[in-house]
This record gives sequence, C-alpha cells and structure tokens, in this order.
Amino acid sequence: AHTPRVFSGVQPTGKLTLGNYLGAVKRFDELQGSGMETIYCVVDMHAITQWQDPAELTRATRLVTASFLACGLDPKRSILFNQSAVPGHAELAWILSCVIRIGWLNRMTQFKDKAGKNREAASAGLYTYPALMAADILLYKATHVPVGDDQKQHLELARDTAAKFNLDYGAPGGAADFFPLPEPLIEGTVTRVMSLRDGSKKMSKSDPSDMSRINLTDDADTIAQKIRKAKTDPEPLPETAEGLAERPEARNLVGIFAALTGRGVADVLGEFAGQGFSAFKPALAEVAVSVLAPIGAEMARLMDDPAEIDRVLADGAARARAVSEPLLEETRRLVGF
Ligand code: ADP
Ligand code: NA
Repeated sequence: AHTPRVFSGVQPTGKLTLGNYLGAVKRFDELQGSGMETIYCVVDMHAITQWQDPAELTRATRLVTASFLACGLDPKRSILFNQSAVPGHAELAWILSCVIRIGWLNRMTQFKDKAGKNREAASAGLYTYPALMAADILLYKATHVPVGDDQKQHLELARDTAAKFNLDYGAPGGAADFFPLPEPLIEGTVTRVMSLRDGSKKMSKSDPSDMSRINLTDDADTIAQKIRKAKTDPEPLPETAEGLAERPEARNLVGIFAALTGRGVADVLGEFAGQGFSAFKPALAEVAVSVLAPIGAEMARLMDDPAEIDRVLADGAARARAVSEPLLEETRRLVGF
C-alpha cells in the first residue's frame, strides 16, 4: 500500500480568486488536519506555458505563497515550495511524456480553450502540460489530489499515465503498482465558481475582466461593488435548490454564500427564499468581506517581507527534494537509466 499523501498546485499567473480559494486553497487547508502528508506547490513551470514577464513571475510566485500562508497553510504541517526549485519535476515529466500517447493529449479541452483558434502558434509546453502535471503528482507518489472541477480531465490523464507506466516498466514480481493511481478530491459546496459576468464561464485569474472575479486582495468596497454589479436575473430566490437549476448566475451566488459560511444551499435558501438580489447581494458582500478581508490583510503583511517568503520556499524545496529524490532514483532504475 502507498503512503497516503496529498499533492496540489496553483499557477503564479495573477492574484488568486475566490474560485481558487473555494475550489482549491481552502480545501488544502482542511486537508492539513486529515492525517495525510500534504505537499502544495506554486507551479511556476506550468505558468510559462504561456509567456510571463520574468519579474512579474517572480512576484506572482511570492504572492501565491503569501496567499497559501494567509489562507492557513502552515509550513510546519505542509511542504510549501515552488516547482522550478525541484528539478525532478522536469526530469519525470520527460519520462512520462514518453509514456503518454499523443492521442490522449489531443483530447484535452483545456489545451483547446487556452490555445484558441491558432493552435499551431501555441507553445509545445502548453500542449504537453498534462505530462508535467502527472509528473508533479507522481514524483511524490501522491495518492490524493484536491482540485477544482476544471482539472478533472488532467487528473484522469495522470491516472492513465501511472497505470501505463506500471504496465510498461513494472518488472515481473516487482513494481506493478509502482505509482499509485491518484484520486481526485473534487469536493465542497462549489467545485466550480463561475464568473460574476457570465454564468457559463469559470471565474479565473486570467480572465481579462477584473469585474468577473473577486480577488483575495480586493478591499471591502471593491468586493461590494463587484457583487452589486454581478449579473443576475429579476426573479426572487426560490424555496429549493431545484429552483436554481436553470439560473446559473443565481445558483453561483447562492453557492458562494453557502461555501463561505459553511452552510448548505438549502439552509441559505431557507433564509432568503422570496427575496430578490437587492436583499441577497449586500448579505453576500458582507459574508465575502468578513472571510476575505483578514486574508488580504495578512497577504499584505507577508508581502512586506519577501525574504521571509523566499526562506519558506527554500526550506520547502529542500524537503520536497528529500521526499522525491529516492522515488525518482527508483523510477530511473526501472526505466534502465
Ligand atoms: P486559474 O484557473 O484561476 O488560472 P489555476 O489553473 O492555477 O487557476 O488553478 C489552481 C486551482 O484552483 C486548481 O485546483 C483549479 O481547479 C482551481 N480553480 C481555478 N478556478 C476555479 C474556479 N473558478 N472554481 C473552482 N476551482 C477553481
Ligand atoms: Na486552471
């Protein structure tokens, strides 16, 4: 049996949003108390699959680390580091890119979304991104991966990759289950927070419109204004969750309220059924500010001392290397290196 171990990552491509918080980082924090080892990574090598300004990348890496810490991730209880500081990610990604089939990559919807119409002009790294993501997880033989719903397909590919490696290189009587098949942990009241401007798109830090998202660093007035301007419909809130089925914007806002307060959707509707958004939105803004304001304040405090953030990352990288190096050495041996 494999040691239960959690791995997940966030790209340093901007400020974290409420979507990253509810879909990922809040869950990372909760898993620190699960008894499983927890390893959380700022995936700067993933970020450069689309060009990043170098100075901005360095700053964003610190900012995501500051968000991790401000959201409760504890360097004593978790390994916190940045991907490029552990060269094993790149080495294993190469080995796995020789296990993964091109046909698997061709099915990835995120590549199609991010590459847009001119696929020939996308970087090769954007295309092979799932190989690096599989390497991130398997380098630590992680068994559980908390992610938002948008990463489900990539995680399935990581499982297929682990299974094919085990088949290709599992010596008879030996390593048939060398890599565990990592389990996705896609849980919580909202696993996909939607854009405030368009209920059919996910809230993303890379969306060109800042009004589409709430950033962890937004101040109280900005949060209130974004929620006030969020797209909704003219109907009052329904009695039950089924009444939200055809109302994506309303469903999203109610889901956010429920996730932020730790209440069920039915319970929230019990309080607000029959009321319109002119009543619901200010209540949601208040809840959002009460959760996010302390996180934003702590991030600002941490960003005043970048050397301390770098120290946390360097310490985490040393520990990540200590866990992964013996596993990578075994992998190399199985391949025949
Ligand atoms: P983004 O998509 O905002 O650029 P990343 O790709 O770095 O963020 O994703 C970091 C984590 O946040 C992943 O686990 C991803 O599934 C999760 N995540 C991102 N956006 C959302 C969202 N709108 N709702 C829920 N989870 C999300
Ligand atoms: Na994403």
